[in-house]
Amino acid sequence: MNKWDKKAKNYSRYSEDKDRFENRIFDALTSLHVEFKNKTLLDIGCGTGVYTLHLAKKCLHVDAMDSSKEMLEFLKQDAKKLNLNNINTLHVNWNSFTCKNNYDYAFCTMSPAIHDDEDLKKMNNCAKTKIYLGWAGKRETRIMEALFEAHGSIYTPPNGAKKVKDWLNRQNKFYQVIPFEEEKVRTREFSEAVENFEWHLEVRGVKPNKNRIETVLKDFCDKDNFVTETTINHFNLIVW
Ligand SMILES: C[S@@+](CC[C@H](N)C(=O)[O-])C[C@H]1O[C@@H](n2cnc3c(N)ncnc32)[C@H](O)[C@@H]1O
Repeated sequence: MNKWDKKAKNYSRYSEDKDRFENRIFDALTSLHVEFKNKTLLDIGCGTGVYTLHLAKKCLHVDAMDSSKEMLEFLKQDAKKLNLNNINTLHVNWNSFTCKNNYDYAFCTMSPAIHDDEDLKKMNNCAKTKIYLGWAGKRETRIMEALFEAHGSIYTPPNGAKKVKDWLNRQNKFYQVIPFEEEKVRTREFSEAVENFEWHLEVRGVKPNKNRIETVLKDFCDKDNFVTETTINHFNLIVW
């Protein structure tokens, strides 16, 4: 099973809530004079459509591609509820995706689809303007640190933004960067938390041991059997 299919049911969904992090990204894009009205856009690793559906409200057309069928199913459900008919979903891995159009925008947020030079080259060639949002080397989480330690490993925060900036520098391309900091608090029921952290260890190449996970999580569990995780995150929004 695709690992993101497993995550889909617990992944966040489109929301009109003004306090959501997505709004900070859209405000930042406006400050860079990025305008989506009547434009075409390719959303790479679109997930459940947290950004896609906002974009589709403005764009002429959106191609939403993702290698997880489950993620796309949720996107389609939410698009239907919103009566959005200008989204075409593409169930495909970025590695095997052939870009046939020259989009106005290529858009990729928080997706490992773009992670090496080849991925970046392809993204660069498929649109006039490229927008990337990714981790920028800080994801402070006491729970993850404790879990990695319990599995004899060290947690290293993701830094996709550095790879993108390094690549752009090597290509002598002009780009703009806006840094973001976010404090995120997530509370999960104990068994849901176990499942969530098993997934996180697995995707980072650490074989999860359920007993060890439960032992660690007990230290973070309240009397009602809920586990609260606070993370301090750094991201970069990069536009070129
Ligand atoms: C963290 S989610 C981000 C989803 C969405 N962009 C967002 O910001 O909420 C990562 C998404 O990238 C997708 N993904 C991961 N690797 C991919 C690849 N090689 N090709 C296409 N999609 C990929 C996953 O299936 C998942 O839906």
